[in-house]
Amino acid sequence: MRELKTVIDEIAAEYRACEERGQVATYIPELAKVDIGSFGICAVTADGAVASAGDAEIPFSIQSVSKVFTLTLALGKIGDALWRRVGREPSGNSFNSIVQLEYEKGIPRNPFINAGALAVADVVLAGHAPKVALGEILRFLHFVADDDSIQIDEAVARSEQATGYRNVALANYMRAFGNLSNPVEMVLGVYFHHCAIAMNCVQLAMAGRYLAFSGRHPTTGARVVSPERARRINALMLTCGHYDGSGDFAYRVGLPSKSGVGGGILAIVPGKASIAVWSPGLDGQGNSVLGSLALEMLAKRMGWSIFGA
Ligand code: DON
Repeated sequence: MRELKTVIDEIAAEYRACEERGQVATYIPELAKVDIGSFGICAVTADGAVASAGDAEIPFSIQSVSKVFTLTLALGKIGDALWRRVGREPSGNSFNSIVQLEYEKGIPRNPFINAGALAVADVVLAGHAPKVALGEILRFLHFVADDDSIQIDEAVARSEQATGYRNVALANYMRAFGNLSNPVEMVLGVYFHHCAIAMNCVQLAMAGRYLAFSGRHPTTGARVVSPERARRINALMLTCGHYDGSGDFAYRVGLPSKSGVGGGILAIVPGKASIAVWSPGLDGQGNSVLGSLALEMLAKRMGWSIFGA
């Protein structure tokens, strides 16, 4: 196996000059301000080694990558009862599809599309004020990333709150089907704010370690989730983590991963590594163009695809 740091440096150098970067998300106005030339990458391995390159220490908006962490918390709260309210199938539709929710009578296809993540936010919120629920999400991230500095970017949260009409529509529609139990505004508040969490690649790769290492926090050995739950979250990331681009991503990269419209991707190499990449230019499905290419290259050069070489 080639040395990880060498491979990561090569990839960052190869992408620094790349011109085909897709488009930065503009439907959340604050995200449109991000420099499309940014590129960061970090991988953390089982022995605790951290290899990073490029803009790996510049914070970005994790957006839908946060849905992995809220899913973990919701499963911790209500376990398999979550699956009465959210499915586990790839959507084959855009992440903010409204029509699919109508066919499926308010039961979203999976926890990563926006409607599914709203149901998950409703579970995390249950019994708490929104501020307390957000505090719980942040505390979880501080614990899994070993980093108490992770925060919500309030400007991004306000920007999405002011323009998130589709999510407002999805939440009201879910409530009409009886699949949200808290007030719609509160669920949306939690959702917009957890999407607006800012992290850098090093923090995100550290946060993903429990998924790579059978549910354990590798530095303390503390159990975050059971090995079975880590395996199942990874399965959902593989099948649903890139929305209607999930099949192609599995074909090209072969790793459980979750993307966000901020251009970040968290990818898990079970038993071996947790990886974060960030490049804000997106493809038509809202997934980072260079982030996907960089992971494809990293998986190939390290022999890391879960499907073998
Ligand atoms: O709800 C939204 O549209 C955003 N807060 C998150 C969408 C997202 O990141 C989709 N991922 N690629």
